Amino acid sequence: MPNVVVIGAQWGDEGKGKFVDLLTQQADVVVRFQGGNNAGHTVVVGGEKTVLHLIPSGILHPGKACVIGNGVVVDPEVLADEIAELKARGFLKDDEQLVLSLDAHVIMPWHKALDIARENRMGAGKIGTTGRGIGPTYEDKVARRGLRIRDLLDEARLARKVKERLASAREELARLGASFDVEEAALLKKHIDLGRTLAPYAKDASLWLHRAIKSGKSLLFEGAQGTLLDVDHGTYPFVTSSNTVAGNAACGSGVGPTALDRIIGISKAYSTRVGSGPYPSELMEATGDRLRQVGGEYGATTGRPRRTGWIDVLALRYAVRVNGLDGLAITKLDVLTGFPEIKIAIGYKCGERNFDEMPSDLETLERCEAVYETLPGWTEKLEGVRRWDELPKAARTYLERVAQLAGVKIVAVSVGADRGETIVLENPFQVPRR
Ligand code: GDP
Ligand code: IMO
Ligand code: MG
Repeated sequence: MPNVVVIGAQWGDEGKGKFVDLLTQQADVVVRFQGGNNAGHTVVVGGEKTVLHLIPSGILHPGKACVIGNGVVVDPEVLADEIAELKARGFLKDDEQLVLSLDAHVIMPWHKALDIARENRMGAGKIGTTGRGIGPTYEDKVARRGLRIRDLLDEARLARKVKERLASAREELARLGASFDVEEAALLKKHIDLGRTLAPYAKDASLWLHRAIKSGKSLLFEGAQGTLLDVDHGTYPFVTSSNTVAGNAACGSGVGPTALDRIIGISKAYSTRVGSGPYPSELMEATGDRLRQVGGEYGATTGRPRRTGWIDVLALRYAVRVNGLDGLAITKLDVLTGFPEIKIAIGYKCGERNFDEMPSDLETLERCEAVYETLPGWTEKLEGVRRWDELPKAARTYLERVAQLAGVKIVAVSVGADRGETIVLENPFQVPRR
């Protein structure tokens, strides 16, 4: 059975959670491979909303396994709470349903304090992080001094590492003018307890996945954030600290790249961005406010209002390229109902220069303004639509134009937040393995 990767094709919050939940029906295993609880993935089933931050969005399907891969940074307290909440609601009845990589790095309380203290220091130039300690944890990973899930399970090793890392974090926090009033013994005890809570799930996830593939199971990889937030390929430095692109599904889970059979990008029918950074198709006026209101564009993790704008096909074409997208799923088409005209950013203007591909230089990108093509809107409500030919003609024309300009086919269209409010044009699991 094929393995499918789902990633965000914009700046995050594209509706990955919704699609992963929907596609889990066809898969056996859902895998998170990067990011941490900076992610907020919303799943709505029968009107009931669940927001997942660390556990893959397949968890609402009993019998489907969910894996948190080595590439994820795990806040053990958040994970323990997420597990408890799901159990209280009748999900995750069988502990075998969740696998946590022993090699995943751990977000410690000082990572969060450092994230916040550094952002405060940067003032107007801040990145606008989620404050969840993501950046400092990945820094420690790359600097080869991080703590991993396996360290939480070994009390002596944990005590040694906490002593060493806490002292160094206190020094840096003091330099930043921030205090960190956490007592070492209490912190250690708390993390020993968290290690015990998470121990039943902690496994060699790469080996577990290898065996799943060998036994014919189908994997679904769930990206977090989005392509333009990738640490290498995004709008650096206004990015997150991990690789969000499809290729990292292999690295971040310990399977080989030949296991990735189909790559699907998710994009809104318009665009949003949370936090700082360039965004040429951003709308600063009433149309942007309307998109925010109708689309409910407030962060699923931090509650911050999301910046809003028209769809940007330069960004999408870039996402097609750096992810190798086989198909694009468009979400929130229903939100565009009632707009008299709908715009597509088809190029950028920067002074006298025109661009038809995203410029890689941040300072250039920051000065770019989008050039638009305008299409007529539609007034029909779309929530009840389940077939392509039931969509208003203007909506179909809009989607066809986006697909043509982005250079990718549209494989699904979402017309509401609920699992069922979807038009599936091509099932990514119905393709042969590579
Ligand atoms: P993710 O981070 O990519 O999983 O996306 P988020 O959950 O952060 O944000 C997407 C939001 O849009 C959530 O509130 C979803 O419930 C909602 N959503 C997803 N698809 C649709 C859709 O087609 N229409 C509408 N109106 N809402 C949607
Ligand atoms: P999902 O998975 C949207 C943004 C933050 C900030 C930048 C760096 O729900 O799509 P970080 O805390 O990662 O160091 O912040 O990245 N960001 C997201 N924006 N959706 C997300 O996740 C995001 N995760 C991080 O707003 O600009
Ligand atoms: Mg989100």
